[in-house]
Amino acid sequence: MIDRRAEKQALHQVLGGVRAGMSGVLVLRGEPGVGKSALLDYAVERAAGLQIVRTVAVESETALGFAAVHQLLVPFLPAVDRLPEPQQRALGVAFGLVSGPPADPFLVGLAVLTLLADAAEVRPVLCVIDDAQWLDGESADVLGFVARRLLADRIGMLFAIRETTEPDPHLQALPDLRLAGLPEPEAQELLATAVGRPVEAGVAERIVAGTGGNPLAIVEAAAELTPEQLRGRLPLTEPLPVGRHLEGLFGRRMRELPTDTQGSTRPARAPRSPLSPGRRVRGEPGPGPGRRIRDASPAPLRGPVPKPGPPRAAGL
Ligand SMILES: Nc1ncnc2c1ncn2[C@@H]1O[C@H](COP(=O)(O)OP(=O)(O)OP(=O)(O)O)[C@@H](O)[C@H]1O
Ligand SMILES: [Mg+2]
Repeated sequence: MIDRRAEKQALHQVLGGVRAGMSGVLVLRGEPGVGKSALLDYAVERAAGLQIVRTVAVESETALGFAAVHQLLVPFLPAVDRLPEPQQRALGVAFGLVSGPPADPFLVGLAVLTLLADAAEVRPVLCVIDDAQWLDGESADVLGFVARRLLADRIGMLFAIRETTEPDPHLQALPDLRLAGLPEPEAQELLATAVGRPVEAGVAERIVAGTGGNPLAIVEAAAELTPEQLRGRLPLTEPLPVGRHLEGLFGRRMRELPTDTQGSTRPARAPRSPLSPGRRVRGEPGPGPGRRIRDASPAPLRGPVPKPGPPRAAGL
């Protein structure tokens, strides 16, 4: 994985804190293809010794209440019987295990917190929630609630969420990192690796500028362009071929480039991503995407006591 030093450090800080008996939360934000899931995979690979539970929210399940939190908790469901009775009933109703009036979201949140905390007494727990923009509303409420209440529980929670133009009410108050495209040298490195053969310098600069350093867009452009185009012997197409799901984003970005850089092989100044308004902390000014990280310091760890606390029988 190229670059992402600050993000990797923040992830290591969460993992280290959890291993030391604390808790930690980090929300990775960014546009499609910028590398959020790749960073979650990086964290999971380095989470040896932790119990890892994952959920990937899917668009088709956004209307199914508690679907994502249910998927996350599957490994811990056998322990539901040991929950305090009101929490047990609330979770049972939420998951369709028992019938009853609609579950009280507060009690469901407490039940999830208790389940995770009990499991973490045996071995620290890492919850990984990807594509959080598609969480069903109930799961988003519960997971946000749990993330805000972690103390010295030996629980880590990592979220990845596509940047949205509207503020997201559930994960808003949590420590986050906003991912921007790769800085220019690293984006060039990724392009060279993806192509596997020399790319003419001006063409490479233009691809990096046109994609804003977005890793997925770079990889897709590398796959779509012909060897002649990559050597600068044939003009690049307009807009760059960056794959169907990125077309809207990057087609617009290419149209925003000054006209004298469109279609030329001269270095182009990358426009700001329409979805990443965060500030730049590196690579500015000048051509190339730079790096924008909001809250560049690693996520604060929660909980003052570096050892497991007493059982959370009542959830709080
Ligand atoms: N730092 C990196 N170095 C090399 N390759 C990367 C890097 N970051 C991402 N990639 C590659 O770019 C592609 C897109 O990354 P990823 O799937 O993590 O994006 P994403 O932000 O999760 O996108 P989405 O919002 O669509 O889920 C993947 O093939 C991934 O391996
Ligand atoms: Mg992803």
